[in-house]
Amino acid sequence: MTTLLYGRPPAVFDPPGAATQLSPLIPGSTPLEDLAEGSADDIMIHAPPGVLERRYALALALKALKVGGRLDVMAAKDKGGSRLKKELEGFGVEVGESAKAHHRRCVVIRPETLTGLDAAIATGAPRLVEGLDAWSQPGVFAWDRIDAGSLLLAQALPPLKGAGVDLGCGYGALATVVLGSPAVTALRLVDLDRRAIAAAKKNITDPRASFEWADARTLEDVGALNFVVSNPPFHDGGAEDKRLGQAFIRKAAGLLKKGGVLWIVANRHLPYEAELKDAFKRVDMIADSGGYKVFEAVK
Ligand SMILES: C[S@@+](CC[C@H](N)C(=O)[O-])C[C@H]1O[C@@H](n2cnc3c(N)ncnc32)[C@H](O)[C@@H]1O
Repeated sequence: MTTLLYGRPPAVFDPPGAATQLSPLIPGSTPLEDLAEGSADDIMIHAPPGVLERRYALALALKALKVGGRLDVMAAKDKGGSRLKKELEGFGVEVGESAKAHHRRCVVIRPETLTGLDAAIATGAPRLVEGLDAWSQPGVFAWDRIDAGSLLLAQALPPLKGAGVDLGCGYGALATVVLGSPAVTALRLVDLDRRAIAAAKKNITDPRASFEWADARTLEDVGALNFVVSNPPFHDGGAEDKRLGQAFIRKAAGLLKKGGVLWIVANRHLPYEAELKDAFKRVDMIADSGGYKVFEAVK
């Protein structure tokens, strides 16, 4: 019997050691959408914090379970845990709830009849977002808007040249601006989120673009690119983590050739200057507005 696991539950929940991973945030995992209906015996879900993406994942998981199969879901109380029981009951199931380590845990045995699954799946599915004119999906970073940091960076960017990469490309908002420069010869779009990469592929059909579902920190330090653009993440598993952005800065330096340029935006309060000055020859702050700073750093 294969155990299916979505995300990385805290160790107190005793997640299965050998399991097929389903989270879109873990490169190489199996999409929950690909599981055959009524095929699974057991699914454990560390539920995501967004309401729409959580209900989408729960509905897909219930659909994938056999009648009599077991769904074991947990979430931190302040990250959706306190709503879990009600959300699951909305699908017509009986829920056993317990509390542990600031989480709520809900266990469900799949009954014959379920309700509301298709509506939850439709609400969390990829779509062309009205007003944004781009494909995106609930759960993707700033999925239905242009992030203010990315907008500031886009406004500050000069036309770039040569080959480059967008680290943490999301659904491709910044990459679209970069590709507006005819002097760009190639652009790699990299993101940890499978849904973001899938949306970016639909949004950008330019043959200069290529797409990588990957952890940017694991990319090879090719030392060959002309430019890097990034609005780096600063949350890991829901908690603020400045080390992520700092790792992106070091990776950008490893990817660039000498004289190559990094364009990066960051929340004002994040301490990136020291990391930039360490890894780059010249660092200039180009914009400082609305709580964000844009830096140009030359290797
Ligand atoms: C602040 S968002 C910027 C997204 C996009 N540039 C935009 O403007 O909408 C950061 C992005 O980095 C991605 N990300 C987080 N951790 C990552 C990692 N280790 N490697 C690659 N991408 C990552 C997130 O999924 C998210 O799409």
